Amino acid sequence: MYVRTAAVAAAAFLGLTFTLLGGSASPAATAPATAPAPAPDSAGLLGPTVYAHRGASAYAPENTLASIDLAMRLGFTWVENDVQRTKDGELVVIHDDTLARTTDAEQVFPDRKPWRVKDFTAAEIARLDAGSWFGPRFAGARVPTLREYMERVEGNRQRLLLEIKKPELYPGIEEQTLRLLGETGWLDAQHVSRRLVVQSFSADSVRVVHRLRPDLVTAFLGTPAVADLPRYAEFTDRINPWHTTISADWVAAVHGLRGAHGKTMEVDTWIVDDAPTARKVREMGVDGIITNAPDVVRGAVGSYF
Ligand code: G3P
Ligand code: CA
Repeated sequence: MYVRTAAVAAAAFLGLTFTLLGGSASPAATAPATAPAPAPDSAGLLGPTVYAHRGASAYAPENTLASIDLAMRLGFTWVENDVQRTKDGELVVIHDDTLARTTDAEQVFPDRKPWRVKDFTAAEIARLDAGSWFGPRFAGARVPTLREYMERVEGNRQRLLLEIKKPELYPGIEEQTLRLLGETGWLDAQHVSRRLVVQSFSADSVRVVHRLRPDLVTAFLGTPAVADLPRYAEFTDRINPWHTTISADWVAAVHGLRGAHGKTMEVDTWIVDDAPTARKVREMGVDGIITNAPDVVRGAVGSYF
């Protein structure tokens, strides 16, 4: 399923273009300074698609604008994020359902334990520092609203693997997310066909997204039993499993099915941050690798984008 070498020049060109476009964030000290062009493997094929998980989150605070800017500078167009909702109904980009781990909420709001995202207004969350926990050079980074995030991804000419996180906490979040995607121009034919995938651990949530926007590519996060895969193929295009849970046979079983859009179902696995594991899942035949360290994965297995 890999892209042939004819795409190397285009991919290298795009990597150079994105590097030159630049961004507002400074790469972390441990991040590579340049974006090497994608390279084919020994069989002359390019590797799986690489997704920068929560941005280039090994080198910049996860789910911040700095993390996607850095992914762009490293030459990665696909970024992944997590979408939740504030008390007053704003969609925000953050992984945990509390603010404690990735912001200074405990210091700013000491009496608001357990600092649930859904118990804070957007204005309150906008006051928080979402960068210092990762490193002093990121002090002042914010929890982005989804609208801010979409505008930056668009400005960076990137692509988005959008995760609806814990939808059971946020009734109607699927419809609200799609509304915002429409308002920000992300539901036109070009974005839908090439630049957007919506995923969730909740099969119900993926089903709702598919019902509301049947044209969207979707993914279910998890590792269903082979016998259950045909049921998922009715409403989704991809199955995205944790890498420790899969085998070559399981990947082949997914590939043996046609998904909601009549195309071969695909597998994007997570979270692979080291070269041996990247090579292992590539041998299993996965289509994509979701990683905090996209440069490491590209170095191990190559990549198209
Ligand atoms: O994209 C896959 C991955 O994000 C799923 O796990 O917990 O990091 O959202 P998590
Ligand atoms: Ca996620």
